[in-house]
Amino acid sequence: MKRTTEIVVSDDVRTSLEASLEAMSADGVFLLADEHTMPIANALLDISVFSAVHTVPAGEACKSCDVLHGLLAAMENAHLSRSSVIVNFGGGAVSDLGGLAAALMKRGIKVINVATTLLAAVDAAVGGKTGINFMGMKNEIGVVRMPDYVIISLEALRTLPKQEWLNGYGEVFKYALLVRGGELVDAVEQLASNGANLNWQRIIELCVDYKSRVVRQDPDDLGCRHVLNLGHTVAHALEELAAEQGKTLPHGIAVGRSLPVVAYISYVKCGLGRKTVAWLRKVCCDTFGLMDYDCKEVDRIVELMKADKKNSAGHVNMVLLSAMCSPECDIQVGDDLIREAINFYM
Ligand SMILES: NC(=O)c1ccc[n+]([C@@H]2O[C@H](COP(=O)([O-])OP(=O)(O)OC[C@H]3O[C@@H](n4cnc5c(N)ncnc54)[C@H](O)[C@@H]3O)[C@@H](O)[C@H]2O)c1
Repeated sequence: MKRTTEIVVSDDVRTSLEASLEAMSADGVFLLADEHTMPIANALLDISVFSAVHTVPAGEACKSCDVLHGLLAAMENAHLSRSSVIVNFGGGAVSDLGGLAAALMKRGIKVINVATTLLAAVDAAVGGKTGINFMGMKNEIGVVRMPDYVIISLEALRTLPKQEWLNGYGEVFKYALLVRGGELVDAVEQLASNGANLNWQRIIELCVDYKSRVVRQDPDDLGCRHVLNLGHTVAHALEELAAEQGKTLPHGIAVGRSLPVVAYISYVKCGLGRKTVAWLRKVCCDTFGLMDYDCKEVDRIVELMKADKKNSAGHVNMVLLSAMCSPECDIQVGDDLIREAINFYM
């Protein structure tokens, strides 16, 4: 059964949530938040609408089998029915965990994602991918199941730390290369200089509209949805290398650092204009900093890219650009070109 999602960018999350709950005729409402977002939920929402409340650790720590087990137990104790709703109040980690628990509980209860980070607003809360990490592998266990509502809370974003904004910028930069009209290109230029006075409601709407259109056409990620992976094959390898070295590289920053590499490869393979490549290198360096890898690390990045689950027969498949807003999916790229492109960004 296909499900559709209502998406609202809201400056009054309390009213937006109450309107969604009324439209859903929910017979029980379960609030899930993490240790940082629960106090924000307490400040912004009317907590009396919830029949049960559950707090999990913040960040990737909540995307584990143990935390999922604890959450399912709390949901069971709350006597939810299939007409009940889970409200996932937080960033992508909370919506990934809560979305999976909702799909499992009674073979599926209703879901509202309230996005409180920029990354969740423009990406994670929308599109129905859910999951937890398993045996060291990210998002290894999960399902694709659309939320019923997504409420992007501009009020909650006001408390978001600077580093978490930067993390969201990576995805916004990706959309700037995909969404026609140039408004996001202007936004990216401002972000690279000072980022002041941006209309975040408009920026988020542009990103979300694009993602929703693509997801509607290919909800199961079998074809055109691959376009959303622009920058992600390199980014995942950078994140995995960081993890091997005992460091963390936030996903959005990894995407932001990967885009100039993709642009260079796009110039060689698909004829992307040199000016675009140079522009992207400048705005990404100014915003996300230079890459700094030695030869061995570059070899390891290439190895990790080859192991990406989206590849076939040991070849690296990437999303490239033939021009701004003209993506080309599943293009095979050789090792030497990847090395050359990474060196271009160092
Ligand atoms: N399902 C998808 O399509 C999809 C897409 C992209 C990323 N993801 C997943 O999303 C996760 C990353 O999402 P994220 O960047 O939102 O991270 P996150 O959910 O871990 O949140 C980052 C940090 O910000 C805190 N936080 C959240 N909202 C806040 C607010 N308003 N004020 C202050 N602090 C706040 C959180 O408690 C956490 O400490 C990863 O697990 C990634 O795998 C999923």
